[in-house]
Amino acid sequence: MVLNRVAVVGAGFMGAGIAQVAAQAGQQVALIDLKEAALEQARRDIAFSLERLHAKGIVSESPDTVMARIACGTTLEALRTADLYVEVVFERIEHKRPVLEEADALLPDHAIVASNTSAIPIKLLGECVKNPARVVGTHFFSPVPVNPLLEVIAGPETADATVDAVVAWGEQIGKQVLRVKKDIPGFVMNRLVGAMSLEAIRLLEAGAASVEDIDGGLRTGYGFTLGPLEIADLAGLDVCLHAFTNIYEMDPGELREPPELLKRLVAEGKHGRKTGEGFYRYDDRGRNLGPAL
Ligand SMILES: NC(=O)c1ccc[n+]([C@@H]2O[C@H](COP(=O)([O-])OP(=O)(O)OC[C@H]3O[C@@H](n4cnc5c(N)ncnc54)[C@H](O)[C@@H]3O)[C@@H](O)[C@H]2O)c1
Repeated sequence: MVLNRVAVVGAGFMGAGIAQVAAQAGQQVALIDLKEAALEQARRDIAFSLERLHAKGIVSESPDTVMARIACGTTLEALRTADLYVEVVFERIEHKRPVLEEADALLPDHAIVASNTSAIPIKLLGECVKNPARVVGTHFFSPVPVNPLLEVIAGPETADATVDAVVAWGEQIGKQVLRVKKDIPGFVMNRLVGAMSLEAIRLLEAGAASVEDIDGGLRTGYGFTLGPLEIADLAGLDVCLHAFTNIYEMDPGELREPPELLKRLVAEGKHGRKTGEGFYRYDDRGRNLGPAL
């Protein structure tokens, strides 16, 4: 099944990026949000990103040509003719459920329902619609216009044809797709990188090595571009704690339990790069000034 008409609901940080990459690939996109202000911000962000990508020669079409394929709006009318619906609202099942139920009532029968989630089980999302075979998880990596990775996650009732169509769509819009074959808490990447960051925090907490040596060791010895503490600071320590807690609650285990040091930093408002301090300190342009601990 070819997915050409895309409706993206939720025009925040991720929704704007998803709409942009689909439009760059020549697709007609409806970008929908409850708030006009979110749509205006999304338009500005997409235009800014397209200008930069065009200037670097990464996007050959003019920003105006790409922007013309994105129709922004606050109503759900476009869902009636969509082939692919992508839900990109807040990471809480209480938010996603009513959004998915509403979409289910409007979408044509052939349309695929994708939910952009960081960690919510696809099984739970599938329960929000009449036909869970058409529900699939898409975990785009940020910033979507420049990060090529996309996890496509099958729930227990997702049809193979649904996964195949979304994998093909992901490749069509320029993504490198990682198929997650089992609906496991945290999927594959958050699980893997999370495990490394958790262990790095525990080693730091135990006084085993310094912030710089833990990250530097992985850069020097294993060719990492960023160490696990730098990755956690970039993602946001509050976001990490939320994700680790969710995974731990769904799948408890000593190695998955969020460490006290992480809880303390979050409680102190040290959320990483975005707040100017986490495991490292940052200047107001986000440049790393060296370890904070
Ligand atoms: N931020 C990241 O780096 C990242 C990475 C991977 C996955 N995700 C996932 O993507 C999803 C969205 O994250 P985000 O960072 O873009 O959030 P965000 O807060 O930037 O945007 C969410 C948008 O959804 C809109 N919205 C809420 N309810 C709505 C409704 N009923 N109808 C229409 N619009 C509605 C809000 O107005 C807001 O503009 C989450 O599930 C998140 O876990 C985020």
